[in-house]
Amino acid sequence: MAHILVVDDDPNILRVLKMRLASGGYQVSTATDSAAALHQIRSTEVSLALLDLKLGREDGLTLMHDLLEVSPQTAVIILTAFGSIAGAVEAMKLGAFSYLTKPFDGQALLVQIRNALEQRRLAGQVHRLQGLVGERLGLENIVGHSPAIKLVLAQVAQAAQSDANVYIEGASGTGKELIAKTLHVGSRRRSSPFVAVNCAAIPENLLESELFGHEKGAFTGADRQRPGLLAEAGGGTFFFDEISEMPITMQAKLLRVLEEREFYPVGGRSVVRLEARLVAATNRNLMEAVAQGRFREDLFYRIHVIPIRLPTLAERREDIPLLARHFLAKIVRETGKPVADISPEAMQKLMVYTWPGNIRELENVIECAVTLSDGPVIEAPNVLRDRPNAATGLPPFRDAKGIFERQYLQQVLELSKGNVTQAAQLAGKYRADLYALLRKYGLNPDDYRPG
Ligand SMILES: Nc1ncnc2c1ncn2[C@@H]1O[C@H](COP(=O)(O)OP(=O)(O)OP(=O)(O)O)[C@@H](O)[C@H]1O
Ligand SMILES: [Mg+2]
Repeated sequence: MAHILVVDDDPNILRVLKMRLASGGYQVSTATDSAAALHQIRSTEVSLALLDLKLGREDGLTLMHDLLEVSPQTAVIILTAFGSIAGAVEAMKLGAFSYLTKPFDGQALLVQIRNALEQRRLAGQVHRLQGLVGERLGLENIVGHSPAIKLVLAQVAQAAQSDANVYIEGASGTGKELIAKTLHVGSRRRSSPFVAVNCAAIPENLLESELFGHEKGAFTGADRQRPGLLAEAGGGTFFFDEISEMPITMQAKLLRVLEEREFYPVGGRSVVRLEARLVAATNRNLMEAVAQGRFREDLFYRIHVIPIRLPTLAERREDIPLLARHFLAKIVRETGKPVADISPEAMQKLMVYTWPGNIRELENVIECAVTLSDGPVIEAPNVLRDRPNAATGLPPFRDAKGIFERQYLQQVLELSKGNVTQAAQLAGKYRADLYALLRKYGLNPDDYRPG
C-alpha cells in the first residue's frame, strides 16, 4: 500500500484529505509543520508527499528541498492557494511532480496521485529495463547509444506495456513522431492503425469534425457522413501532435472525451466509444502554457500520465557520428550516389555544431553534403556550409551556459562514479539541487556507476 504524507498547516484540510485518501486505499500520515514532516520522512518510507506551499510562517519550497534531500525517490505534489501559481511552477522546476490549486476537487487529486505514483514506479523500473530494450522493441530505426537516448527507449519500452496516456515533450526535430510510432509498434495495439493529427495545422472550425466525424448535412459542405480520425484509429494509437496549439474550446471537448471515453460525431446522435490509446506531443513547455492559462490544467493531467522528454541533439553529441552515418547510408540508398564515408574533419565539424534543428537538421545537412560531394568521402567544406558559427564551433551565447553546465555535471558524475552525495560535494551543491540539475539535463547517475 502506498504511503502518502500530507503537510498542511490547516488541520481541517488535513482531516478532509486524510479521510479522502484513506478511502482511496492509501496509508496516510499528516504533519502541520516542516519539523514534523521531516521526522515522518526519516522514519518511514513515503511514496508521495502532498505539500502546502504556505505553511504558516514556513516556506513549503524549503521543506520540499529538504524532503527530497532525505528521500529523493518520494514524489511531491504541491498544494497552492489560487493566485500563487508562480510558486508552484518554481516547485515543478525543483522537482515536484505537479501542483493543485485550492480549492481542488477530490477526483483531480486522486488522478494526480495515481499518475505520480505510476511515474515513480516506472522510474524505478526504467533502469532495470535499459539492457533489454533494444531486442524487445525492434528499435533498429532509432539510432543512438548515449545514456540519454537509452533512457528514452527504456521509458518507451515500459510505456508500451501499459495503456496509459503518454506525453512526449521535445524540441523540434528531436524525434517525437518517431518515438510515438515506435511506442505504437511496441504495444499490443500494433496491428491496429496509428493515426496522427497536427493540432496546429487544422483550422479551429474543422478540427472537431476531423476528430469526431460528422453526419450528413451537419454543416454546409458536409455532403456525406464521415467517421472522423478518432474512430479511424480504432483500437490503435492516436497521436496528437503539437497539442499545445489545440484551441481552448476543443480542449474542453477533448477532456470530456477522455473522461467518458466516448464522443458524438458533429450533428450525430449515436455515441461512439473511444478505443484508441492517446499519445500527445509538444515542442513547448506545456506546463508554462498551463500557468499562462492557454492550456487547461485538467486536460494537462489527463494526458500527462507517462511523460517522456526527448533530449536535444546537443545533449547527446556522442550519437552524432552514428546518426550521421545512418543518414548517409539512407541517402545513398535513395539516391544511388556513391558516397561511402565522412572525413574526420567533417565529422569534427558536425560534433561541435550546436544543432538548433536537432536530428532533422542533421539529416538535412548530410543530404546537402552528399549532393555537394564529388568524391567518395564527404569533406569538411561541404558540411554546414551556410552556418556561420559552424567553423569555429562557437555556440550562440544563449546556448553556451547550458552546454557548459551539462558538461560540468557529466564530469562531476564521472569523477564521483555516479555517487550523488559525492557529486553534490564536488559541485558544492545540495543533493536536491543537484538532482534538479541532473533532471534538467536528462542525466542519470546510474549511467556513471561502474559495472
Ligand atoms: N534516434 C533517431 N534515429 C534515427 N532517426 C531519427 C532519430 N530521431 C529522429 N530521427 C529522424 O529525424 C527526423 C525528425 O524526427 P521527427 O519527425 O520524429 O521529429 P519531431 O520531434 O516530430 O519534429 P517536429 O517537432 O519538427 O515535428 C525524422 O526523419 C526521423 O526519422
Ligand atoms: Mg513532429
